[in-house]
Amino acid sequence: MTVDIADGVRPELDGTALLEQIEVLAGIGVDHSRPEAGRTRLALSDQDRLARDRLVSWMKELELEVRVDPMGNIFGILAGEDASCSNALMIGSHIDTVIEAGPLDGAYGVLSGLAVARTIRLAGLRPRRTLMVGAFTNEEGVRFHPDMMGSLFFAGGIGLEEARAARGTDGAALGDELRRIGYAGDADPAALRPAEYLELHVEQGPVLDSEGIDIGVVEDLQGISWKRIVIEGTANHAGTTPISMRHDAGFAAARGIVFLRELARDSGGTRTTVGTVFFSPGAINVIPSRAEFTVDMRDPDEDRLSRGEKGFMDFLDRLEGEEGVNVSVETLARFQPVRFDRGLADAIEAVAKGRGLSTLRMTSGAGHDAQMLARVCRTAMIFVPSREGVSHNPAEFTPSEQLVQGAKVLLDVALQRLGRS
Ligand code: GLV
Ligand code: MN
Ligand code: MN
Repeated sequence: MTVDIADGVRPELDGTALLEQIEVLAGIGVDHSRPEAGRTRLALSDQDRLARDRLVSWMKELELEVRVDPMGNIFGILAGEDASCSNALMIGSHIDTVIEAGPLDGAYGVLSGLAVARTIRLAGLRPRRTLMVGAFTNEEGVRFHPDMMGSLFFAGGIGLEEARAARGTDGAALGDELRRIGYAGDADPAALRPAEYLELHVEQGPVLDSEGIDIGVVEDLQGISWKRIVIEGTANHAGTTPISMRHDAGFAAARGIVFLRELARDSGGTRTTVGTVFFSPGAINVIPSRAEFTVDMRDPDEDRLSRGEKGFMDFLDRLEGEEGVNVSVETLARFQPVRFDRGLADAIEAVAKGRGLSTLRMTSGAGHDAQMLARVCRTAMIFVPSREGVSHNPAEFTPSEQLVQGAKVLLDVALQRLGRS
C-alpha cells in the first residue's frame, strides 16, 4: 500500500541507531596506539574502503538498492511509488576525512540519511517519491585535489578521465586506487541525478554554539580558491652568505604567508590559510633552494575573492624581483560561491520552528558536496552546532541530543518532500 507520508503519518527517528552507527564509523581509521589523534580515512585509502564496506552493508540491511558510479560515489536507493531518480530526493555527504579528523564531519550527514531511510522502513511506509542516500568520494580533497571531487564529477563538472588521472599527495593515481579498493562502479551518474538534495552537517564553526541556536538554515556557501605555490631560489651556506646576497626561497614563502594574513585582515571578509609548507633541501644550515606551500582562500563574495586572488598574484610578481626567486602557481581548486534553494531553506526553517527549535539563516564557511549538487538540482543544508566551533580536529564534538535533533529536522523535511509527487 502506498501511503502519502506528508499527510498525517509522522513516524519518529531512532536516535540510538544513528548514534551507534556514528560511533562505529568513527572507530574506522583510528590508530589505537594514538587514540588522541582521532581518525584518518583519506579518500580511497584502506581505511576509506573499510568505512565504505560498512556503509554498503548498512544500506543492504535496509534493503536499499546500492549503486556505485565510476568515481566511487555510493548511492542507496529506496524506491518510491515514482521510482525515477530524476524526481528523487537525495540526502548525502561524505565519509572520507582529513588527517586526524573528528567523528562527525561528513559521516553525520550520510548516516542521518540512513536514519531517515530506516525510519521509513520501520514504519512500513512507501513514499511517493524515491529517496536516495549518497556518499561522495574525496570531499575533503586532502589526498587528491580538487576537494568535492566525487560530487563535482556527479554534477558533470569534471570528466572521468581527468578525475581518475589525479595524483594523490602520495603519488598514487586516483583511478588505480578506486580499482584497488573495489569501488570503480559502472552506474551512470547522469541517470542518478535527483530533483532535490539535502545535506545535514555539523557547522564546523562557532556561530550556533556561541549564540545558543539549535539549527542553522544554510542559505549560501563561500567561494573557494586553492593554489599551490612553488618558489625557487638558491641553496647556499647559512653561515657565510650575506643576507643581501641571498635568494632564499624559505624567506620568500614566509613573506607570502604574512601577506596572505594581512590581505585577509584588511579585506572585510576573505579568509586565507597556508596549511602546508615544505622547504628543500631541508637542513638547518642550508638556505632553502625551494619552498612549496598551499593557499586556501575563501569568501562568500565572488568579486572580493577574485580581488584577493589578483592581489596575491601581483604580490608574487613583486616578490620575484625583490627576492631574486622564481615563482610558479598552480590552481588546485576554484569554486564560486553558491546560493541554495530558497524554498527548501524555508521548509527547513518552518520544520525546525515547528519542533520548537531556534534557527539562524547562515553562510557555510566550509565546502560541502551540496555546493556541487546545487549545479544540478534544488539544494539546501541544515547545520547543527559544533562545540566551540572546533572541526578538522579530533576534538570535534556535538552533543548527542543536538545530533538527533538535527536528524529529526532532516526527517521531517524529507517526509514532507517525499510525500509529494
Ligand atoms: C572541507 O572540509 C573544506 O575544506 O571546507
Ligand atoms: Mn564535510
Ligand atoms: Mn571537512
